[in-house]
Amino acid sequence: MTVETIGITGTGYYLPERVLTNFDLEKMVDTSDQWILERTGIRQRRLAAPGETASSMAEAASRPALAAAGVDPEQLDLIILGTFTADQPLPAAACLLQARLGNHTAACFDISAACCGFIYALELGEKLMLGGRYRNALIVASEVLSCVTDWQDRNTCVLFGDGAGAVVLSKGAGGHRILDTYIGADGEYASLLKVEAGGSAVPITREVLDRREQYVRMEGNKVFKLAVSSMARSARRVLKQAGGTAGEVTWLLPHQANLRIMKAVAKSLKIPEERVYINVDRYGNMSGATVPVGLAEMDHNGVLKPGDLVLMVAFGGGLTWSASLVRW
Ligand SMILES: CC(C)(COP(=O)(O)OP(=O)(O)OC[C@H]1O[C@@H](n2cnc3c(N)ncnc32)[C@H](O)[C@@H]1OP(=O)(O)O)[C@@H](O)C(=O)NCCC(=O)NCCS
Repeated sequence: MTVETIGITGTGYYLPERVLTNFDLEKMVDTSDQWILERTGIRQRRLAAPGETASSMAEAASRPALAAAGVDPEQLDLIILGTFTADQPLPAAACLLQARLGNHTAACFDISAACCGFIYALELGEKLMLGGRYRNALIVASEVLSCVTDWQDRNTCVLFGDGAGAVVLSKGAGGHRILDTYIGADGEYASLLKVEAGGSAVPITREVLDRREQYVRMEGNKVFKLAVSSMARSARRVLKQAGGTAGEVTWLLPHQANLRIMKAVAKSLKIPEERVYINVDRYGNMSGATVPVGLAEMDHNGVLKPGDLVLMVAFGGGLTWSASLVRW
């Protein structure tokens, strides 16, 4: 008898074509390539073209993931999209993605967990599938951060980029197994990283736009410290849940917010830097999309080998935190 398990059967990613370098930013705000590189590790980021949306980028990331999994879009019975830059407030971007893919029956919803969007969605997808009703799920994170970035605010505009990543989860004998996942949050820190306006608390008005409250604001320094401690804690927690140790981890794939944060997390876990996957230099912080873009890039470039233990860990607005352990 074949034991049915749930595994990742395909990965995909999409990055918009337009590149914005640190030197481009020097012409926009009072900053320098040297400051950005030293403080964040970022050299350049990608920006969506006019007309590109969370759902269009999600589609571009999902098609290769579905092809790799050998799953037709009509076979999907679940689509979960992590984003806080959905195409529009209503309907969910997951439904717009579904329509783009030509699926007419899957359950579809967005989740808002900021930079943890992908790992939260992965946990939800896997647990729903374990319930027995779903066979093929598309788990995506897609962010057009450029549309909520204040291009006059040097504290934030140098950090972000646009992108999308996707995995297909399938029930069956194959696939890369999710060994365990841990997700959590503490809303007490909600004000540290936020988009103030555009919801029921501060609906958009002309005055709100004049005050530029439609953009991301962040207390970077406080977020930095919490990012390091909560990512390290989440990583330890998921390793404990799965009965593993940091020494067994082949690849640490952290949320790509800042090179210094990633190095501090690796140091805290005693994972050597050469085992930390890094692409923040090329793409910046793409919020929830950084982890699936990293995973798909590692997969497509042959970095991941069968048997590798991949520890994904993220942290973001909410504040949210999350970690997931996958056996490749
Ligand atoms: C944002 C971040 C890079 C700033 O680095 P930092 O070392 O904490 O720098 P600070 O915020 O203390 O600012 C230091 C100085 O640099 C200045 N500065 C900020 N942005 C700058 C920029 N783009 N260019 C030049 N100077 C800048 C500040 O104004 C400050 O100047 P002051 O000392 O005269 O007030 C860092 O805090 C960070 O990465 N935070 C976490 C980000 C994150 O993870 N966010 C998302 C979570 S998902």
